Formats: sequence, C-alpha cells, structure tokens
Amino acid sequence: MHCRHASNLTVLVSVAIVVSLALGACTRPREGYQPEQPIPFSHYKHAGQNEIACQYCHVGPAMGRHSTVPSTNICMNCHRVVAIDREPIKKLTEAYDNGTPIKWVKVHDLPDHAYFDHQPHVAFFQQNVEGNTAPGKMQGVCANCHGNVDEAAVVKTENQFNMGWCVNCHRENNAPIDCQTCHR
Ligand code: HEC
Ligand code: HEC
Ligand code: HEC
Ligand code: HEC
Ligand code: HEC
Repeated sequence: MHCRHASNLTVLVSVAIVVSLALGACTRPREGYQPEQPIPFSHYKHAGQNEIACQYCHVGPAMGRHSTVPSTNICMNCHRVVAIDREPIKKLTEAYDNGTPIKWVKVHDLPDHAYFDHQPHVAFFQQNVEGNTAPGKMQGVCANCHGNVDEAAVVKTENQFNMGWCVNCHRENNAPIDCQTCHR
C-alpha cells in the first residue's frame, strides 16, 4: 500500500471500506427463504413441464430495472380453460372475477439503499455465457442468480443476495465495485 502520500481523506475512505466490508460480511443471509404463497403456483409445472418461457410471465427483466410478478389476467389466458375443475384454479378464477389481485409474497426484497437493475445483468449473461443464447429461452440467464427455478415447485432464494454475493460476482466479471454502483 502507498501510504506515503496518503491524505486524511484517503485514510478515512480506507477505514470506511474496512468497516463496510466487515458490515458486508454480516448482512442478512437470505439463502433458502421460501415463503408460502396464497395459491400453490408451481414453476416446475409451468416453466419446466410445459416449457412456458420465463418472460411470458416476467416481462420486466430484459427491459427494465424490475422484474414483475404476473397479474391474474396472464394466468387466465390459459386457466379460463385449463384445469378449471381444480380447487386452486377455482380460487384463482374467483379472485379474477372479483377483481381482487392475488397477494403473492415477495421472495426477494433488497433494502432500498441497495440499487439493483435487471437489465444490464440480463444483457451481459445473454451475451457472455455459453449455452444461454437460444432464442426465447431465458432460464440459463436467470439461473446465474435464481438457480433452476424451472425445476422447483416453489421458488426460493438460491443465493445469499447480500452485498458479498453481489461484489464477488462483480469482481469475477470485471464489473464495477465502487460504492456508487450499488448505493446511489
Ligand atoms: C406462468 C407464469 C410464470 C412463468 C412461466 C414463470 N414464472 Fe416466475 N413467478 C410466477 C408467479 C405467479 C410468481 C409469484 C409466486 C411465487 O413466488 O411462486 C413467480 C415468482 C418468481 C420469482 C420470485 C419473485 C419474488 O417474489 O422475489 C422468481 C425469481 C421467478 N419467478 C423466476 C422465474 C424464472 C427464472 C422463470 C423461467 C425459468 C419463471 N419465473 C417463469 C409466474 C411465472
Ligand atoms: C400458457 C398457459 C398457462 C398459463 C399462462 C398459466 N398456467 Fe397454470 N397451468 C397450466 C397447465 C398446462 C397446467 C397443468 C394442468 C394439469 O396438471 O393438467 C397448469 C397448472 C396450474 C396449477 C395446478 C392446478 C392443480 O391443482 O392441478 C395452478 C395452481 C396454476 N396452474 C396456477 C397458475 C397461475 C397462478 C398462473 C398465473 C400466474 C398460471 N397458472 C398461468 C398452464 C398455464
Ligand atoms: C445478476 C443476478 C440476477 C439475474 C441474472 C436475474 N435476477 Fe431476478 N432478481 C435479482 C435480484 C438481486 C432481485 C431482488 C431485487 C430487489 O429486491 O430489488 C431479483 C428479483 C426478481 C424478481 C422479483 C421482482 C423484482 O424485480 O424485485 C423476479 C420476478 C425476478 N427477479 C425474475 C428474474 C428473471 C425472470 C430473470 C431472467 C430473465 C432474472 N430475474 C435474472 C437478481 C437477478
Ligand atoms: C452473477 C454475477 C452478478 C451478480 C450476482 C450481481 N451482479 Fe451486478 N453486474 C454483473 C455484471 C457482469 C455487470 C456488468 C454488466 C455490463 O458489463 O454491462 C453488473 C452490473 C451491475 C450494475 C450496473 C453497473 C453500471 O453502472 O454499469 C449494477 C447497478 C449492479 N450490477 C448491481 C448489482 C447488485 C446490487 C447486486 C446484488 C444484489 C448484483 N449486481 C449482483 C454481475 C453480477
Ligand atoms: C455490487 C453491489 C454493491 C457494491 C459495489 C457495494 N455494495 Fe454495499 N450493499 C450492497 C447490497 C445488495 C446491500 C444490502 C445487503 C443486505 O441487506 O443483505 C449492501 C449493504 C451495505 C451496507 C449496509 C449493511 C447492512 O447491514 O445492511 C453498507 C454500510 C454498505 N453496503 C456499504 C458499502 C460501501 C462503503 C461500498 C463501497 C466500498 C459498497 N457498499 C459497495 C451492494 C453493494
């Protein structure tokens, strides 16, 4: 380390980094979080068995900052006719007819002071990871962070989703790691 010309400011910044790395190490680990949902929606049945593309329901990630969880009218594209005799689909249809949104419990929820944007990540992994480029198939891209959602009946947090996890991947891929990247 070049400390000869270190100004007070550099020292302060270094201290801030050491403190933040220590804090970063104790940010909440989220891996394995798997809340119960109001309707037992299975990614395995939809994205896996029936090969419905992720972006059919999650329109956000490729274009914008946030992905979105689909509204009931997207479900009704199929469930006006598919499996209408089953209990969960009766519940879904009733909610749709009454105009009541399904209250999906958020699985991922970063604190407001952390800035995340799907778009640059999705673009990067579409271009840079072998085998992920098949048109219309996003699974491989999403799996970098969300794991194989299409193989699971219930979504859960597949990685730590804390600062250490973000920064490690940024280091490995030469993405920016200055504080303002994620705290603005
Ligand atoms: C038929 C619609 C549909 C398809 C296709 C689909 N999803 Fe979902 N997804 C949902 C619904 C509904 C939820 C909210 C309920 C839940 O968490 O299980 C959800 C939740 C999620 C969540 C958690 C969101 C949160 O609250 O943090 C992730 C991550 C996710 N999906 C990723 C994917 C990926 C990756 C694919 C493709 C492999 C995919 N989904 C395909 C409907 C879909
Ligand atoms: C592109 C068509 C399609 C869309 C869109 C779709 N589903 Fe499905 N869904 C299916 C198919 C096919 C099955 C399997 C039916 C079977 O087992 O015979 C299914 C099964 C289900 C089941 C299991 C029913 C049971 O008990 O066997 C639930 C619950 C369900 N879907 C909920 C949803 C919800 C909620 C959404 C919207 C977020 C949604 N689906 C969107 C096609 C779709
Ligand atoms: C670089 C890692 C990464 C990749 C790649 C990624 N996600 Fe995410 N995803 C996240 C993070 C981080 C959050 C939590 C964002 C928050 O809470 O503000 C999230 C949240 C979500 C959510 C919940 C809604 C939201 O935006 O908060 C859905 C749905 C989702 N992702 C779907 C997808 C799908 C579908 C893909 C592939 C097209 C994908 N993600 C690719 C990291 C990623
Ligand atoms: C699996 C690897 C990976 C993970 C995990 C990841 N990132 Fe990234 N991130 C990247 C890559 C690669 C880029 C650079 C993309 C490019 O070159 O356009 C990037 C770019 C970004 C950018 C845009 C930077 C800019 O100004 O161009 C932000 C903001 C960001 N990440 C925030 C986060 C946050 C917050 C998390 C954790 C919640 C996170 N990332 C987790 C790989 C990752
Ligand atoms: C690649 C993204 C990324 C970069 C770069 C980054 N952070 Fe973070 N930081 C996060 C995320 C995400 C969280 C939220 C972690 C959580 O809640 O588990 C966080 C949380 C924090 C916290 C709060 C700790 C807590 O207990 O919630 C502090 C303080 C912090 N960061 C400081 C910094 C400083 C200082 C830098 C620069 C040296 C920095 N961060 C760089 C993503 C990043």
